[in-house]
This record gives sequence, structure tokens and C-alpha cells, in this order.
Amino acid sequence: MKILVVGSGGREHALAWKIAQSQRVQMVFVAPGNGGTASDARMKNIALTDPAALADFVEREQVKLTIVGPEAPLAAGIVNLFRTRGLKIFGPTKEAAQLESSKDFAKAFMLRHGIPTAKYRTFADAQAAHDYVRSEGAPIVIKADGLAAGKGVVVATTEDEAHAAIDMMLSDNRLGDAGARVVIEEFLAGEEASFIVMVDGKHILPLATSQDHKRLKDHDEGPNTGGMGAYSPAPIVTPELHARVMREIIAPTVQGMAKDGIPYTGFLYAGLMIDASGNPKTLEFNCRMGDPETQPIMARMKSDFLSVVEHAVVGTLDAVELQWDRRTALGVVMAAANYPETPRKGDLISGIPAENDNCITFHAGTTLEGGKLQTSGGRVLCVVGLGDSVKVAQRAAYDAIDAIRFDGAQYRHDIGWRAIKHHQG
Ligand code: AMP
Ligand code: GLY
Repeated sequence: MKILVVGSGGREHALAWKIAQSQRVQMVFVAPGNGGTASDARMKNIALTDPAALADFVEREQVKLTIVGPEAPLAAGIVNLFRTRGLKIFGPTKEAAQLESSKDFAKAFMLRHGIPTAKYRTFADAQAAHDYVRSEGAPIVIKADGLAAGKGVVVATTEDEAHAAIDMMLSDNRLGDAGARVVIEEFLAGEEASFIVMVDGKHILPLATSQDHKRLKDHDEGPNTGGMGAYSPAPIVTPELHARVMREIIAPTVQGMAKDGIPYTGFLYAGLMIDASGNPKTLEFNCRMGDPETQPIMARMKSDFLSVVEHAVVGTLDAVELQWDRRTALGVVMAAANYPETPRKGDLISGIPAENDNCITFHAGTTLEGGKLQTSGGRVLCVVGLGDSVKVAQRAAYDAIDAIRFDGAQYRHDIGWRAIKHHQG
């Protein structure tokens, strides 16, 4: 059977890697893919991104199933288009993807369905937004309504920063349409966790828990990034908290979408903030898997992922029971020089160790040109170590990183610190 994975990041490499392990899979096409998917004999990159061109390709090659990695094609309606043409695809429709593509939609939805989240208001008028900041004070969070590739959220510690963010988005239009409206919300303190499930319109299948590291530098310092490392499981998500998140956040979301006439299908990722007393609130929804969370999650999945996704597209996820490797998987992102502002491209990469039972290297911003592997984007690799404890998994990842070379490589040295602290109590 032939499968198509849409996207080019570390998340898509991990999805393709897991799907390719299924006995029934003969080829995984990745569009457009990266240097890692280009190097794997079970995968083939195709240089297409336009949804209609992808649908043509799928028909021509008789691809049985398509899995979409990133949010942009989902928000553009790739699932709507494929379904119209009778092609099997896993992901949310354009309408359902609004949970991620419009913060205002997501906040209004949560309010309507009683899903715990930060108090907020939405503004298109800069003056009214400034007045609101003056009345609420700092810290306060300013978010562009639309998709802004990770640049749309400003956690302002002072009122001046909040006013500057409003000017940037509403007055100077620096984020274009994405910033034409802003959501201003209450600052939430606590610890973040990524809660990712698969949804078939009705049934919910939770994936293993995970935690990301958003800041560029050790000790959670430096600018926000797409994510510098992640591990699974996340010890902060105890069985009790897991049950509560399912009951208070995930189930009402899936039921609410169905009730609103926009049934949700696809991966659903709730970004949670867990306060000091253990109460979860929803920071955001993503209508896709996380990157880099996917890499450690897929590294731990033991079940046949193809069969799981097949159940998801026909609405029988309730028949699936997932099996996980009991070990911890911990992924460290190696990023290019000058990431996240202006990542440098074209640096030669060497020393990636062969995959083994304790370590897998997933590619993101890499290309294979003339047999040479080079950097081609901000986040270059995600090196995943597995071990019986967080520390052992961490060691496996960093031992592999010690062997990998490219000029300007930057990575954090403390991925997993929260989990280690948690285990030490
Ligand atoms: P978002 O894209 O909405 O998840 O925001 C990006 C990051 O900003 C989150 O991962 C948090 O670290 C931070 N953040 C967003 N909303 C809040 C909030 N209400 N309070 C505190 N931090 C927030
Ligand atoms: N790692 C965070 C995200 O994928 O949104």
C-alpha cells in the first residue's frame, strides 16, 4: 500500500518513519520531505505542495491514505478538497482547523462550551486594545488572531511591551491579516504540557503525553522557538490529571465541535497550562501534532500506526488500544546558526549515528544534494534517545549529538530538566 505524508519537518519524518514500519506499506511518499526522508529507502520525496496537485498525484499513484503534518494546508482546506474527490485523508477540515487558525474562534468556542481557558477579549481597534491593557495591567498576553508561524504571541511582562505588541500587530500590520485582530488574555502561571489525541469525529484516542521546551536557550531563557526538545511521557500529567483533562477539556471540545456542526477529525493538540495546584487550563489548540513532540511520541509507539490511522478515517477509533514502549523517549533539537531569526542554510552535516534501539535521528531542515547532507532550515535535526529513565534517555540523545557535526549548530543542554526534577520530587 502507498501512503502520502504532507510536510517537510521533523514531525513528518517521524510520522513517515512510523508508518513505514507497517508490513502492509510498500512506499511512503513525503511532500515535499527533507534530507532524512530522501535517504530512507522506504520513502520517496515528491516536490509538490499545492493541494490540487497532491490530489492529482494521489489519484495517479493510487495512494490509499494521506496524513497531513502542518497546519497551513489544513487551514487552506486540503481535507475538504481530498474528501470532495473521494480520497482518504486524516486531518481536520478547514472549518474545524479554525481551532488553531483563529484564536478568536478558539476562545469563543471554549467560552461557549465551558472549557477552562484564560479570560480574554478580542480587538480590531488599537485604541480599544490599549485601553483594555491599561485597565487590566501587566503581565498580560497579546495574540494575533491568525496563523503567524510562531511569531504571533507576546507574553508582555510590562504594559509598555503590551502596547508595543498591539502597535506591531494592529497599527503597523507587521503580521498582515493574521494580526488584523488580536486576542488579549490573562497571563497564566504554571507548567505547560502538550496533550495530543486522535479524533474520528466522535471517538477520542489519546496519544502518550509529552512536554516541549519553547525557549531557545538553557534554563528556559532566550527567544521563543517552534520547540527545542520534547520528551514522552510527561510525569506532570498524572493519571488523575489525564482523566481530568479528558473530561474537562478534550471531550467537551470534540462534543462541542460536533454540536456546532463542525465535527472534528484529525490530531488535536491542546497546549495546557497547569497551575501550582494542578488545575489545567487550555492555552491554545493546534489542529495537528506537535513538533518536536511527535518525534519522541512516535519513537515510543508500538502499535501499527497505519491501522490506527485507518480506524481514524473510517470512524472506528474506539476499537483501538494503543501499545507504548514503557521507556522514556527524549528528543533534542539541533538548530542552525541564527535560528530562530534568520537561520543559515548550506552547512554540511556529518556524523549522524545509525538508528539503533536506543537512538533515532529525525531530520527537519536538511536537504540531500549530490549525496551531501546540508542544513536548509531553522530546526535541522531532532535526536531522540530512549531509556528506562529520563536521565538514561537524555544520555543516549546527547551521546549521539556529540558525534554530529555542522557549523553553527545550537542546541539546549538541559532537555528533560522538568521531568528529572519531578522524579526527584
Ligand atoms: P500559544 O501559541 O497560544 O500556545 O502561545 C505560545 C506560548 O506563549 C505558549 O506556549 C506559552 O508559553 C505562552 N502563553 C500563551 N498564552 C499564555 C497565557 N495566557 N499565559 C501565559 N503564557 C502564555
Ligand atoms: N511544539 C509546539 C508545537 O508544535 O506547536
